[in-house]
Amino acid sequence: MKTLSPETKARLRSRSRLVHLGRDGEASQGFVNVPPYRGSTVLFPDVATLLSRNQRFTYGTHGTPTTEALVEAWTAIAGAKGTVLVPTGMAAIASALLTALSAGDHLLMTDSAYDPTRIFCDRTLTRMGVETTYYDPRVGAAVASLFRPNTKAVFVESPGSLSFELQDVPAIAEVAHARGACLIADNTWATPLFFPPHAHGVDLAIEAGTKYLSGHADLLLGLVSANAQWFQRLHRTVDMMGIPAGSEEVFLALRGLRTMELRLREAERQALALAEWLSARPEVLRVIHPARPDHPDHALWKRDFTGSSGLFSVVLKPASAEAVAAMLDGLELFGIGYSWGGYESLVIPFDCASCRTATRWAPGGPALRFSVGLEDIEDLKDDLARSFERMKAAR
Ligand SMILES: Cc1ncc(COP(=O)(O)O)c(C=O)c1O
Repeated sequence: MKTLSPETKARLRSRSRLVHLGRDGEASQGFVNVPPYRGSTVLFPDVATLLSRNQRFTYGTHGTPTTEALVEAWTAIAGAKGTVLVPTGMAAIASALLTALSAGDHLLMTDSAYDPTRIFCDRTLTRMGVETTYYDPRVGAAVASLFRPNTKAVFVESPGSLSFELQDVPAIAEVAHARGACLIADNTWATPLFFPPHAHGVDLAIEAGTKYLSGHADLLLGLVSANAQWFQRLHRTVDMMGIPAGSEEVFLALRGLRTMELRLREAERQALALAEWLSARPEVLRVIHPARPDHPDHALWKRDFTGSSGLFSVVLKPASAEAVAAMLDGLELFGIGYSWGGYESLVIPFDCASCRTATRWAPGGPALRFSVGLEDIEDLKDDLARSFERMKAAR
């Protein structure tokens, strides 16, 4: 296997990057994949080398050839200056917030954020003396009116991973940067393949690698990529928290990376087909999918995104909780589970009314979130058609 030159790496298109970056033929002795290097101690050949601080690897917590491979590939794919790897998506969120904020600062957080992000703000950041204001995700450039002299960061999640509001990220970036604030984005739904975060003005971009980078529901991982302005501060903050990602997880993530675009494109195709089928069902009030023309923010999706993932929601016509449970409990192919992005289809009922303070969640019926996997779409429709029969019987 050839080791690619920096010029070739820079020239590659995204699918070729996914296949070829982070693979060093010479270091892997010709084997296709970088192995999972496990280890704490790294030995130095002599005292002079130890004192020189020039050795590439010095201690397991600061990186291994395995973690470096994923860092190299992700940094290029995200269009970033650098990337840090941490054990979970939630650790990535906490790391980004702790990089940007200090005691006495003010944070603007989207009301549609992943609920644990909210809990981190309300509990941990409050204890540290950081105040959070939640804002309507659809605020756009009017976010400017929410700034205070001590506002140091704005956090976006576009789309929100339950309710799927899209945010005008470039407009929010312009406002944040004009006021010297850091723009942080949870980009897990789109991944950099469908929304290159730094090209849209994001300073710190979070990816829960647990979802589509893994693709197989078998690992936990978080990534934060940063632009040139923020990378050093991110690296220093995370390095000293002592939370490196485990080498087995990173090895599996590298494996997932190679097929990520194929899986995402297939998830997108399947999800759009299922969303279309659901939209025609008499039990469904509406489908909430940003890539469908009937989504209120579809124009933003068309402007800024190059694809959609397998995750979307539907609102059912009013039905009792028992009827919805009867529908979901008998599903054979759809699992009931939270962590999405795997090869298997999932569904959860949700109600995010209790975790909104700047907006109101009142969809008009019970809401379900689907993560569509790689099963045959006709089998998925059959499974759901039977579930609607059960719902009708339990009404
Ligand atoms: C949008 C989003 N961000 C972050 C996370 C957190 O990822 P992890 O489960 O790896 O902590 C999740 C998990 O569901 C998520 O949905």
